[in-house]
Formats: sequence, structure tokens, C-alpha cells
Amino acid sequence: MKRINLSNLIDQIDMNRIPKHIAIIMDGNGRWAKKRFLPRTAGHREGVERVSEIVEAASNLNIECLSLYAFSTENWKRPSEEVEALMNLLILYIKRELDRLHKNNIRLQTMGDIYKLPTKVVDQVEIALEKTKDNTGMVLNIGLNYGGRDEIVRAVKNILADVKKGKLKEEDINPNIFSKYLYTSELPDPDLLIRPSGELRLSNFMLYQVAYTEFWFSEIYWPDFKPEHLYKAIIDYQQRDRRFGGI
Ligand code: IPE
Ligand code: IPE
Ligand code: MG
Repeated sequence: MKRINLSNLIDQIDMNRIPKHIAIIMDGNGRWAKKRFLPRTAGHREGVERVSEIVEAASNLNIECLSLYAFSTENWKRPSEEVEALMNLLILYIKRELDRLHKNNIRLQTMGDIYKLPTKVVDQVEIALEKTKDNTGMVLNIGLNYGGRDEIVRAVKNILADVKKGKLKEEDINPNIFSKYLYTSELPDPDLLIRPSGELRLSNFMLYQVAYTEFWFSEIYWPDFKPEHLYKAIIDYQQRDRRFGGI
């Protein structure tokens, strides 16, 4: 029965108008766990399972890029045990999934200052970046110690440095050039941003890139987020009239 529903949903998707870039704020792990009288980390662990499933579903739909917000510049405010647990889960995810990602031709990319993460995480991330760097399928772009404001300030600093060096002329700076200084320089802007967990905010995610992104919010917590929700978000997205300021 479940399978029939899923394929019904897939049938409703117009494969010629698949969003190129989908971004997801993976939120609600803690509340999912709390509802079950479990520690918050149990929610994070379950959340990792959803990452594997959603990456596979997105890649099967030939989405060019999937951006996942995994750890924000503000998440350091959490208790150190929770941060530690999240870092360990990240290592676990990469170790467990790297071969499969590679086999599926997925190229891993990160956004955020990964060098502020524990060395053991950086090492693992670098192994994965290196292994998948020539893959030509979906880009899996993971936000790690990522913050939109941080990214914009970093871009400004790098632009200033290039102007000083004479590599860039001030009069040539425009929104397009600016975007080349973001972590996402090689990626199209997200077409669709998904945020589960009931929160209706960006929480410092891709501030520059979402200027004309379509938003899809859901009450569901990330550990309950299944491919069917991804399909529903895409179907909704395909009903939208994107005008980009035109008529
Ligand atoms: C998202 O779930 C995971 C991260 C931010 C790393 P949360 O941990 O924010 O879960 P809630 O929002 O407290 O339920
Ligand atoms: C956003 O979720 C960050 C990630 C999903 C990694 P948060 O749970 O940190 O956001 P707020 O604090 O509710 O805005
Ligand atoms: Mg949260």
C-alpha cells in the first residue's frame, strides 16, 4: 500500500521541471527525541538515517545539488556533549556512506569553516572530498560550521583582498561576481528550500542565495522526514509561479 502511494507521488512529479538545487534545514531532532522520552542525541542518530534516505531519493530524481544544513555557526552554543555527539555522528555518517556516495557518482562538498571543527572530523571530511572530487552526479553540499552572515563577511574580506592585489576592479563588483566569493560559487541558487520541524525561519542559512528560492515548511520533525515528504515538496514547488520580479 505504502509503495503504491509513493509511486503515485513520483508519478505526479514533472521530471522535466525538477528543481536543480534543493536545500534542507534538517531540524527537529531534539523535539523528536523528547516526544519519545529519549535523549536529544537519539534524535540526531535517527536524523542521520534520514540523511541517507533523502540523499538517495534526491539523487534518483537527478537533482543537481542537495544542500543540507548539518551544523550552524550558532550550534556551538549547545552543551559540549551534544556538540561532541553531533561531530561523532558526522564521522560515522561519512565512514558508513562514503563508498555508497562514491558508487552513486555523488560529489561531496562543504560550506562553512570546517577547519574550526575537531581534527578528527576535518580528516574524515577531507578523505570524502578527495575521494568524490571527480564525480559528475549530484553535488551533496553539507553546511558544517556554516552561517550565512559569516559567509557574506568572508566574501567581503576576500573581495577586498583581491581588489588590493589588483585581481579585481571595484567597478566590476556586482551581485554575480559577489556570488562567486560564496562557498556555493560553483552551484546554482537553491530553487527550493525545505524546513521541517514547524519553525518558520532561516536560522542563518544561505542568506544571499535564497533571494528567489521557494520555501516549503512542514510541521514534521526531521527524523520523521521521508522521501514522500521530499516528493510532496517538489510537487508543491512545481505548482508555484516564480516571477523573479517580472509579471
Ligand atoms: C537539528 O535538530 C539538528 C541540528 C541543529 C544539528 P535540533 O537539534 O535543532 O532539534 P530541535 O530543533 O531542538 O528539536
Ligand atoms: C538550524 O537549526 C541549524 C541546523 C539545522 C543545522 P537550529 O535548531 O539551530 O535553529 P534555531 O536555533 O531553532 O533557529
Ligand atoms: Mg532546532
